[in-house]
Amino acid sequence: MILGNSLKSMYRQNIVVFTGAGISAESGLQTFRGTNGMWEDYKVEEVASIEAWKNNPELVLEFYNKRRREIANTVPNSAHYAIAKLEEKYNVTVVTQNVDDLHEWAGSSNIIHLHGEITKARSENDDSFTTYDIGHNDLHIGDLAPDGSQLRPHIVWFGEKVMGMYRAAEAVKKADIMIIIGTSLKVYPAAVLVDFATIDCRVFLIDPEPIHLSIPKYEHIQKTATEGMEELTRRI
Ligand code: OAD
Repeated sequence: MILGNSLKSMYRQNIVVFTGAGISAESGLQTFRGTNGMWEDYKVEEVASIEAWKNNPELVLEFYNKRRREIANTVPNSAHYAIAKLEEKYNVTVVTQNVDDLHEWAGSSNIIHLHGEITKARSENDDSFTTYDIGHNDLHIGDLAPDGSQLRPHIVWFGEKVMGMYRAAEAVKKADIMIIIGTSLKVYPAAVLVDFATIDCRVFLIDPEPIHLSIPKYEHIQKTATEGMEELTRRI
């Protein structure tokens, strides 16, 4: 029994934190859906699809330049920092649909960006996905990659394959705790990640709206990201 307890205290639990636009809302970044969501102001197929890039790359670049400038003018909030702090006690994998760099900025060290990273660019003709850091700078038509092709944002557009899904699913399968924060779970395949959680995994959902998960057992903390993470870190 004594051995059992000491073994338990030696074992670092695995946590997967799965985030969406809602975690950055309290940093001042717009979410995509719902009232005042970004997709009310823009047609997604005109700015965030591979067809849009072919038909009107200037408009697509301007859309992401604007997003990059917004991100440059914001800072992580206490939920981003609370997630980074979990690394003191747990093995943490952050799986995010967000293209901002606020998890990195807050100090998380193991992050999978399913939908890409806005601070990186790549050649529009390179399938190896070699990326170049562009920070918070604008991209323009005529900015070329070393292969002489136009640089495009390192973003997954509708009609393209999500990045890191296999690694993300593997992390969820090994998770003792999964925390889902600020995502409407409307975009696939990211939305199916929770289905990889084992029956023993404790799943928490933090979202102020009445979202429902596809699994039978989970706890919904119906609060904002910062309030919800404050409560959860006291409890786990
Ligand atoms: P959505 O805009 O679809 O959902 C945002 C979620 O955040 C909703 O469930 C809100 O209730 C919740 N929310 C709002 N404020 C919050 C707060 N302060 N704290 C916590 N939650 C809050 O964003 P995503 O689910 O991330 O993809 O969207 C998924 C993908 O759709 C994005 O990655 C993007 C978009 O089209 C691409 O562009 C490829």
